[in-house]
Amino acid sequence: MKRKTIQWGIIGLGRIANKFATDLATVEDSQLVAVASRSQQKADKFAFTYNSKKAYDSYEKLVKDSQVDAVYIATPHRFHKEHTLLCLRHKKAVLCEKPFAMNLQDVTEMVEVAKEHNVLLMEALWTFFLPHFNYVIDVVKSEKFGKLKSLEADFGFFHPYDIEHRLFNKQLGGGSLLDIGIYPIFVALSSLGKPKSIAAAATFFDNGADSSCSLIFDYGITKAYLKSSLLEETPTEAIFTFEDAVVKLNTRFHESPIVTIYKDEKEEMLDFNYKTFGYSFEAAHFSRLIREGKKESNIMTFEFSKNLISTMDEVREIISLEYDAS
Ligand SMILES: NC(=O)c1ccc[n+]([C@@H]2O[C@H](COP(=O)([O-])OP(=O)(O)OC[C@H]3O[C@@H](n4cnc5c(N)ncnc54)[C@H](OP(=O)(O)O)[C@@H]3O)[C@@H](O)[C@H]2O)c1
Repeated sequence: MKRKTIQWGIIGLGRIANKFATDLATVEDSQLVAVASRSQQKADKFAFTYNSKKAYDSYEKLVKDSQVDAVYIATPHRFHKEHTLLCLRHKKAVLCEKPFAMNLQDVTEMVEVAKEHNVLLMEALWTFFLPHFNYVIDVVKSEKFGKLKSLEADFGFFHPYDIEHRLFNKQLGGGSLLDIGIYPIFVALSSLGKPKSIAAAATFFDNGADSSCSLIFDYGITKAYLKSSLLEETPTEAIFTFEDAVVKLNTRFHESPIVTIYKDEKEEMLDFNYKTFGYSFEAAHFSRLIREGKKESNIMTFEFSKNLISTMDEVREIISLEYDAS
């Protein structure tokens, strides 16, 4: 029997939307049919580039399109809740970029609305679907190299300070923690769970957005040392130190197909050899969930998304990082 082709729409046609659309074109039985921007000209250009039949000049028009099954939301963090609710209320399945929303309260509301409307909702934390990452999670869980003794993960790059840019603009949710600190925190939560306690320190730009954030997650004997920075290039690796081996997710750890294992004074390199940027894995998972009538992912569960955002809320409390209410 022919599988249903899932018809996708994209809202917010910026940098990541371009990469996602490139990868979506490689996913079987999934098709981009509509895109929406605040500008018709931008929507037309994007639709032409990625072969989308329809191009809208407002997000509201896209969610009213009965052909669209799934919407990928790629707007700045600040609008994730608003745009997710818009889609859910029009019965569109939602794959929403990370961070899912600005805080736990907003994520909880999004999940409640998804349940109320009986519609699929998932946070687009794409690393969870990448084989190199699942390899290391299996190594942690199986204790193949013994117990995990420590974890180090960092994500840092330099970008000139520009108050208008979404990375820095607090009105759009700017700052290192929410944008890239989420990845090291994600690694810690998926391999070790919620920590017993958190120590955190941050530096700030003049507008109050955090420029860097250093964290220690305490799990008792095991500790996780995590860092994000918009001030400097950092290795952007994740290093798992086990009793019998060290496993390194190479730079940039959240997307790189290369994993190095250091064991018995030998070094082995695994190459997971991705043919796409890597967004195809989450998109394929999401299309499958729709086909199967699922309303929640079994991988990126609501519980995991809530743990992730509540951990970031906890860090924000410690470093006194506040955003205006949405
Ligand atoms: N998964 C990943 O690897 C990854 C990588 C980068 C970013 N992200 C996430 O994706 C989201 C978007 O990031 P991006 O780098 O693609 O940002 P971007 O290039 O700035 O694009 C964001 C888009 O959102 C729309 N938008 C709606 N209201 C806006 C406003 N008031 N100001 C600015 N833009 C507005 C715009 O699209 P229109 O003009 O077309 O309406 C804009 O192009 C962020 O939440 C980020 O965390 C994820």
